[in-house]
Amino acid sequence: MEISGSCAVAGIIGWPIEHTRSPRVHNYWLNQYGLDGVYVPLSVEPRYLEKVIPSLTQCGFVGMNVTIPHKENVLDIVDIVDPIAQRIGAINTIVVQPDKSLVGRNTDVEGFITNLYDKIPDWNAASGPAVLFGAGGAAKAAAVALIDEGVPELRVVNRSEDKAQKLRESLNGNIVILSWNQREKALVDAKIVVNATSLGMDGWPALDVNLGRLSSAAIIYDIVYVPLETPLVIQARTNNLRVVDGLGMLLYQACSGFESWFGVKPEVTETLRAHVLADLKTPKQK
Ligand code: ATR
Repeated sequence: MEISGSCAVAGIIGWPIEHTRSPRVHNYWLNQYGLDGVYVPLSVEPRYLEKVIPSLTQCGFVGMNVTIPHKENVLDIVDIVDPIAQRIGAINTIVVQPDKSLVGRNTDVEGFITNLYDKIPDWNAASGPAVLFGAGGAAKAAAVALIDEGVPELRVVNRSEDKAQKLRESLNGNIVILSWNQREKALVDAKIVVNATSLGMDGWPALDVNLGRLSSAAIIYDIVYVPLETPLVIQARTNNLRVVDGLGMLLYQACSGFESWFGVKPEVTETLRAHVLADLKTPKQK
């Protein structure tokens, strides 16, 4: 990849950062569209975050992604927090404005929902209840997406019930909390089931739930993508249920940041998926 002295520079800030797949995605697009830009991983310890972000801005960065453990802390650093990032309480994308002010966004909601419609174009939120396993950051993005699309009821099932209660209190919508050992009961009549826990990731136990109670119209959406075929996805396929895997969420959440920084709306293609998948053989998520 050729870059000039005036290339646009963006990157991802995290700690640790070695596991990130984002450079592979953004640099693929930069190459594909022949753009004069580069996207780099930036390992930043929490104690340096407040100094690093203004410094990168002064260095001419067009923007950055933010990942664990900084997503919440950058809320206090940027100048403007967009409404979705405010609702989620976390930022994953920063765009540097021409006057050097910083706008913080959260593109996980967009990534979650665009991926869902990409795989299931006729998905109808109003068709019935949704079940969400998990109550962490990714679960919150999924919850906002499902509520905004109009699911009539969102059943949140999380190992730590207090976290599920907090999620419910922070969002408007018809959210019902069920305990972890009620997880199979939660599936009755559900039209979509989302795994937003760490369960099923390489090195983690599977999400132990029997999908037998679901109707054949139900959709299983697993946001885990290492491996792509999680035990939950395999069980769903065995039961002839439609499946949405998590890789598309990673790719679609990256689109709007790329467009803001580099001026081209990128496409999520099978070739890009294959390019990222080739790197997923080594076990590391995100
Ligand atoms: P992320 O930002 O990716 O959402 P997170 O905020 O750490 O990550 O959330 C991880 C989710 O996986 C949580 O819902 C967590 O449940 P708890 O709130 O009870 O911790 C869930 N999780 C992790 N390990 C789990 C396990 N062994 N069994 C059940 N749920 C688990």
